Amino acid sequence: MATPLILLFFLSVLLWNPSFSLSDGLQAGSSLSVEAPADVLTSPDGSFSAGFHPVGKNAYSFAIWFNKPTCTAKSCTIVWMANRDQPVNGKSSKLSLLRSGNLVLKDAGHIIVWETNTVSATAVGLKLENGGNLVLRDFEGLILWQSYDSPTDTLLPLQSFNENSNLVSSRSQGNYSSGYYKLYFDNDNVLCLVYKGPEFSSVFWPSPWLLRWEAGRSTFNNSKIAVLDSLGNFTSTDNFTFLSADYGSNISRMLKLDSDGNLRSYSLKEDGEAWIVSWLAFPQPCMVHGCCGPNSICIYSPSFGRKCRCSPGYKLKKPNDWSLGCEPEFPLSCNQTDQLDFLKLRHRFSVQVYQSSRIRWYILLPKTQLLNGHRPPNFNADFYVKLPKAIVSSYIDTVEYPELQCSNHVEQLERKYTKRQQNKSSRFFLWTACSIGGVELITILLVWNFFIRTNDKSSPTAGYLLATTGFRKYTYGELKKATNTFSEEIGRGAGGIVYKATLSDGRVAAIKRLLDANKGEAEFLAEVNTIGKLNHMNLIEMWGYCAEGKHRLLVYEYMEHGSLAENISSKYLDWDKRFDIALGTARGLAYLHEECLEWVLHCDIKPQNILIDSNYRPKVSDFGLSWLLNRGDVKYSKVSRIRGTRGYMAPEWVFNLPITSKVDVYSYGILLLELVTAKSPAMGIEVSDDGSSKVHRTLVEWVRGEVARALESGTWKHVILDPKLEGIYDEAEMVTMVNVALRCVQEDRDQRPTMGEVVRILLRDGSHRSAEE
Ligand SMILES: *[C@@H]1O[C@H](CO)[C@@H](O)[C@H](O)[C@H]1NC(C)=O
Ligand SMILES: *[C@@H]1O[C@H](CO)[C@@H](O)[C@H](O)[C@H]1NC(C)=O
Ligand SMILES: *[C@@H]1O[C@H](CO)[C@@H](O)[C@H](O)[C@H]1NC(C)=O
Ligand SMILES: *[C@@H]1O[C@H](CO)[C@@H](O)[C@H](O)[C@H]1NC(C)=O
Ligand SMILES: *[C@@H]1O[C@H](CO)[C@@H](O)[C@H](O)[C@H]1NC(C)=O
Ligand SMILES: *[C@@H]1O[C@H](CO)[C@@H](O)[C@H](O)[C@H]1NC(C)=O
Repeated sequence: MATPLILLFFLSVLLWNPSFSLSDGLQAGSSLSVEAPADVLTSPDGSFSAGFHPVGKNAYSFAIWFNKPTCTAKSCTIVWMANRDQPVNGKSSKLSLLRSGNLVLKDAGHIIVWETNTVSATAVGLKLENGGNLVLRDFEGLILWQSYDSPTDTLLPLQSFNENSNLVSSRSQGNYSSGYYKLYFDNDNVLCLVYKGPEFSSVFWPSPWLLRWEAGRSTFNNSKIAVLDSLGNFTSTDNFTFLSADYGSNISRMLKLDSDGNLRSYSLKEDGEAWIVSWLAFPQPCMVHGCCGPNSICIYSPSFGRKCRCSPGYKLKKPNDWSLGCEPEFPLSCNQTDQLDFLKLRHRFSVQVYQSSRIRWYILLPKTQLLNGHRPPNFNADFYVKLPKAIVSSYIDTVEYPELQCSNHVEQLERKYTKRQQNKSSRFFLWTACSIGGVELITILLVWNFFIRTNDKSSPTAGYLLATTGFRKYTYGELKKATNTFSEEIGRGAGGIVYKATLSDGRVAAIKRLLDANKGEAEFLAEVNTIGKLNHMNLIEMWGYCAEGKHRLLVYEYMEHGSLAENISSKYLDWDKRFDIALGTARGLAYLHEECLEWVLHCDIKPQNILIDSNYRPKVSDFGLSWLLNRGDVKYSKVSRIRGTRGYMAPEWVFNLPITSKVDVYSYGILLLELVTAKSPAMGIEVSDDGSSKVHRTLVEWVRGEVARALESGTWKHVILDPKLEGIYDEAEMVTMVNVALRCVQEDRDQRPTMGEVVRILLRDGSHRSAEE
């Protein structure tokens, strides 16, 4: 009687097969169903999930995504997909781990759309690991297959990108299927970006007109490995490297080849609500090839973003799809050459002609198309299109495209760590003949005339770099107008007077007029170019410059809150802000000293030169200025005159010792003491001796004395602390700051830490707080 019941029980257990728990991963013989929303694998730390994700109407792909920012069907940070180009049906599709060891994705009709082709006699298990890696292991824990080996468009921290890996962009923002852009290691061992469109393909990164070594790439190492670490340091065996703008904080990151062809590194904001761009390959998005298709021109402005327009006489081939570009509005035929005329497009247009080798002086490229037309800012070229006479005459005079605005702002946090690149030939003309369908009818004449000076220092490369960082040259007239004839003075110092200005594009700027910049224009341009390339969130951003006749002006972003000097006595500067200012300033200086390819000493660190943005984030200003003021070459530490400000100057200046980056460390130490005590180092402090007499002490001596006294009593903290803090501060951070400060102000410069070490100490000991504000 009991036997059949027991049998039935065993049978039902066998048929029901609840044999896996999803947190443990997927065991051999079980599957995930598209219809069960709970069939999702989650990484042990909860950061990632893997499961079916909708990609269209009744279409699903098996994907891995970040759980933060909160994933909805519409917006989900997908980092990997098994079947991006062949979605499965929303009914009865399954991902199954077969007992043979093969992982297969079956569509409703039992068609296998994707499989790992793995075989294992021993039991296997599929798990989503903490870094977002989906791993199939055999019984002994050996990896049979992992998603890290076949990335889609995203590279996660520590995921190795190698010879066999590709990142392929999505088709568009809402369409995850394979798009036109690819990141890969080419046969020369160089990491490249290529556009492979329906009609043409071209490699556009590194810049096609640079030789590999000119682009800072090395072709020697054939191990072909690139990796982004969890702190934001990307390195590749071709010597390409970048640091994220928020380098140093251990947060969620990813490197993604976006559907617009730009390679960006993203960091998750502290609140986990959004991704911010912490690096990108092309600040000027029109430099990405193929974005507008043939016979069109890409226009970019920070206010309206990237836009495509058909070249005059042409119309969009397929509505809402720029990848196919534009086609002529007029009939094509071969026998009308006398009916054609040139139409001039004014406003400094340039086009890039399909050409992947190095461009030389004159190039005639018959039977090619107008591709990658774009207009970088500050680019001085006219552009002619050959069109039927009737069309040309329908345009009055010449075609004007809207004046572009220049800016570094593409998205929230795009700071570019640009390698200094070599120069080459300076001026060239390009003649190309353009034809469609092999019929030589439309001719495009391009006169490409680079705008800056034409000796060895400036060149197409320099022009290109300036263009990519949105850094531009202003005329004196423009700046005079922007400052309302230099009417509103907002500061003085370091060789110039600073005026508030409103640029023609509406941006508020601070314009510094250099007083004794008696450098020649050539030298000035070379150095301003270098300074303009230093981009870091804790350095003030330079938008441009003017060098006209005797005038030398620099255009900077404007800081609402003024300088630290103006804020140090304000009650808004609470402890957290002070610590963040200390850390941010240290990062800015560490970047100048250690991460730039050429060392930049500041030589005048003081609260007047630390500006505060609207989020109370510090930005170091006036760096590199010593170069422009012709006061000796700081780069090679041959400084002829004492610089700096009393109270902040390191002893080396006085004793005529070699000047190194440690002079900035010293000044920074004084700045920290001032942040903690709100006492000016220039004034000195009166302290009472044991008796009744008063003694004069410098700020450093006084703090040192109080710290030494602390070893006995332990009461020093409140004595030195700014009373405006009202005793509200973080004790551990305060002790760290004072200790770092005292190490920085040691007389022996070799005893002082480097700015990089200072950043690490502050980060480690202020670690209850994230590195980012
Ligand atoms: C995505 O783009 C591809 C290629 O253009 C197209 O075939 C597919 O239908 C698109 N998918 C969706 C969901 O729009
Ligand atoms: C790699 O770059 C560094 C500078 O960043 C340079 O000193 C070095 O020579 C380069 N290595 C190769 C192999 O090109
Ligand atoms: C190539 O790069 C790898 C990884 O960085 C390194 O271990 C190896 O020594 C390099 N090889 C050469 C020949 O430089
Ligand atoms: C980035 O990583 C590379 C290779 O691991 C290392 O050589 C370099 O020093 C790192 N850069 C920074 C700033 O940590
Ligand atoms: C980053 O954080 C993770 C987890 O919190 C830890 O495992 C990893 O070691 C950290 N990495 C670094 C470089 O600090
Ligand atoms: C141009 O050639 C086409 C056919 O090839 C012919 O029909 C047309 O009349 C010709 N036009 C002229 C202006 O010769």
